[in-house]
Amino acid sequence: MTAFSSQQLKQQLQQVIVGQEDLLDRLIIALVCGGHVLLEGPPGLAKTTAVHALAGSVHASFQRIQFTPDLMPGDLTGSEIFEPAKGEFRFIPGPLFHEIILADEINRAPPKVQSALLEAMAEHQITVAGETHILPKLFMVLATQNPLENAGTYSLPEAQLDRFLFHLIMQYPTHDEEIEILRRTRLVDDGRLDSAVEHITDPDKILALRAQLTSVHVEPAIEKYIVDLVAATRNLKQVIPEWDGMVKAGASPRGAISLLRAASTRALLKQRDYVIPEDVVELAVDVLRHRLLLDFSAQAEGISGEQIITELLKRIPAP
Ligand SMILES: Nc1ncnc2c1ncn2[C@@H]1O[C@H](COP(=O)(O)OP(=O)(O)OP(=O)(O)O)[C@@H](O)[C@H]1O
Ligand SMILES: [Mg+2]
Repeated sequence: MTAFSSQQLKQQLQQVIVGQEDLLDRLIIALVCGGHVLLEGPPGLAKTTAVHALAGSVHASFQRIQFTPDLMPGDLTGSEIFEPAKGEFRFIPGPLFHEIILADEINRAPPKVQSALLEAMAEHQITVAGETHILPKLFMVLATQNPLENAGTYSLPEAQLDRFLFHLIMQYPTHDEEIEILRRTRLVDDGRLDSAVEHITDPDKILALRAQLTSVHVEPAIEKYIVDLVAATRNLKQVIPEWDGMVKAGASPRGAISLLRAASTRALLKQRDYVIPEDVVELAVDVLRHRLLLDFSAQAEGISGEQIITELLKRIPAP
């Protein structure tokens, strides 16, 4: 079995996606360490295309679920069906029983459906009618949401958003990148760049790399740095007194665990067997921004979770 090469995977994704390098790096990190991703961006920025390309590169079972207002939790999890011939119930697995899930436009489904998804993400299993069903080992949810359209949408339950390893916010392409996007799409007759992607890896190779994560070395100073950052989100006034009261609830230990896991994966993919402060700094915003519950005063002053994390990174010295 040839080893999984993240460089090769990235090159493959770059054949489809122009630019968006941070996005591609983070998708690969999440895939390797088993994290879920919330992708946010206005329509037409290749959110769906990027997820399709990722799923196409990995020989994994893939399912796209379009979230709509009339979706029911059972439409995701599956349900018990009565079989009259046998006189018993049988479980019919729903679309969540796949390895890579694209939960497209997640904010279009009502809260009880979102909760069913978030629960499956956290527990790695689904309970229907008292029976527990285990999800595949490589279970990765990539959820998209479009921030511009609010009519008919339900914002995600804030207290459960920390099930996502990363909350990625997509940026518009540069002028040159947009020209390149035009050129590429013009050459494919259906306009779908992701249909040409080939499988270059499979779940076993990814899981084998994931198993190496435990051997990445972490200095106590790095652990302390991560906890300093995360704890500061819960006690903002000590580090940023002028923004006191802007965070109603900060990140939890799950946030700290996630930051260390993502940083260790970044180290591993860069062929290092130890974490450096840059691994933490680079990923802190995307790991932490959705874990802060902001007070109304922050919204009123236009202060975002991203700005708060960025400021903490400036003020808390890296080891
Ligand atoms: N950076 C990019 N690289 C390659 N293609 C791109 C890029 N940005 C946009 N496109 C192209 O734009 C089109 C729209 O992409 P896509 O459907 O993935 O957008 P989306 O972000 O999922 O939009 P929506 O929010 O409406 O679902 C596709 O044809 C895609 O190839
Ligand atoms: Mg889309």
